[in-house]
Amino acid sequence: MLTLWLVSAFILTIFFVQRLRAPIAKLPGPWYTNFTGLILIYQEFSSNKRLYIHKLHLKYGSAVRIAPNEASFASLDAIREIYASGGSGYDKTELYDLFRQFGIKTMFSTLEKYDHSQRKRELADRYAMTNILRDEHVSAIKDRARAFVSRCVASASSVDVYVWLHCFALDGVTNFMFSPGGLRSLDSDKDFAIMEELTYHQSLQKNLLQYYFSGLAPYFPECLIPRRSPITNEYVLKMAAQQSPAPHSLVGKLARKDSPLNHAQVAAECKDHMAAGIDTTGDGLCFLMWELSQPHNMVFQEKLHQELRATASLDNGDGAAEQRTALDRLPYLDAVVKEALRCAPPIPMSFPRYVPSGGKSIEGYFLPEKTIVSCQPYTVHRLDTAVFPEAEKFNPDRWMEENRAAERNRLFFAFSTGGRGCTGRNLAMVEMKVLLREVYRRFRTTVAPDMNASMDIDDQIISSRPKGQTCRLVFTER
Ligand code: HEM
Repeated sequence: MLTLWLVSAFILTIFFVQRLRAPIAKLPGPWYTNFTGLILIYQEFSSNKRLYIHKLHLKYGSAVRIAPNEASFASLDAIREIYASGGSGYDKTELYDLFRQFGIKTMFSTLEKYDHSQRKRELADRYAMTNILRDEHVSAIKDRARAFVSRCVASASSVDVYVWLHCFALDGVTNFMFSPGGLRSLDSDKDFAIMEELTYHQSLQKNLLQYYFSGLAPYFPECLIPRRSPITNEYVLKMAAQQSPAPHSLVGKLARKDSPLNHAQVAAECKDHMAAGIDTTGDGLCFLMWELSQPHNMVFQEKLHQELRATASLDNGDGAAEQRTALDRLPYLDAVVKEALRCAPPIPMSFPRYVPSGGKSIEGYFLPEKTIVSCQPYTVHRLDTAVFPEAEKFNPDRWMEENRAAERNRLFFAFSTGGRGCTGRNLAMVEMKVLLREVYRRFRTTVAPDMNASMDIDDQIISSRPKGQTCRLVFTER
């Protein structure tokens, strides 16, 4: 018996010594993160990982150990090293396998750099600003923005903008991808069902089970399988096989005759962009309109309205050049959008990456290969209070100040950065700005008296959404 105790004590001592002498032990962090990642996993399952990591950064600074093999950073140096060194930064971890579509790897769920760059080459030009600002795309976005406003003013009392913003985002992204086969969920019940299927689900824990117990996943009972989306799948498969898609649409490019992608790959890629484009833009706009509608933020809404009213004449032409000029001349609108994405980034949590072979130094700490490293926008947008004073406060005016403007912009991380940053950024920004221009030029929005749902940020697998999935506002014509 004594021998058993001695052997156990010896093994434990070796384990503790090894862990304490590992390079990652030099990073600041709670003592237990040297020995176990279970606390992090617990926080993840409890939908609290983002806040847990944020609190650790507040306590320990911009570099922190969060598990024996995982570190989080919140500085510009780290962002550049992890996400932009060599163009697209370090390789993604297996977490991204969860984002395969129809079981097929997409650009987003491709882990290695080379495969990723091959896929990106096939579609990057579709997301260039010059393509997004084509008449066909802009007039489709404007049409959907007007349909959104009609929906909101149709109700005499309050309206749940959460629903209609998701419809707007879905219609926007599907028109962009599948034109002329885009959805009209703002007007059609049949298309509305697709928005519901993609938006209202609770899959965080089920997805995490798939990730942590991937070997057992094929044996999981039905109740542990993440949501399925049969109506969406049917629609996407049909659209990816369209005979004559518009040449400027995404599918027009991906499904061209000499495309290296087969039908299933085109459908998987499109389904991924559809998923990437609905909650992000919808939730981003929802948090933004909620903030602007707060009584204490009316001053910002008023400034936005004044700018939009003063520049209304700029919005006459639908051409790319006119649109670019019109949007570029709206600095306050730009500030409002950035501030909303700073305070409530739609993907607020860590984007995990592996340290490449040979190891790397980040913020002066050497980390061996295969260590998981990441930055999370939620913290990057808050930690440095010299760059973001009163970081918790929604204040679009901060983006209008000259002082430290370059640092602020460099730390704006809502779309990530480098070769694996958001491909849809231009589309999202144009959609958001066109919609806000339609709304705040003519209407004042206020929080509805019957709004009692929670607007706290509720973390999903990597994205987030308002907890109550409801946001009731009142629209008043000016
Ligand atoms: C406000 C809206 C949006 C935000 C905040 C946002 C944010 C992001 C972020 C942070 C990433 C990188 C995530 C990671 O590395 O784990 C990303 C990637 C991506 N996003 Fe967005 N996104 C938005 C809208 C869109 C839209 C509208 C589309 C497409 C229609 C889109 C398509 C993509 C794609 C395809 C990727 C993968 C890029 C790659 O792996 O190369 N996003 N997005």
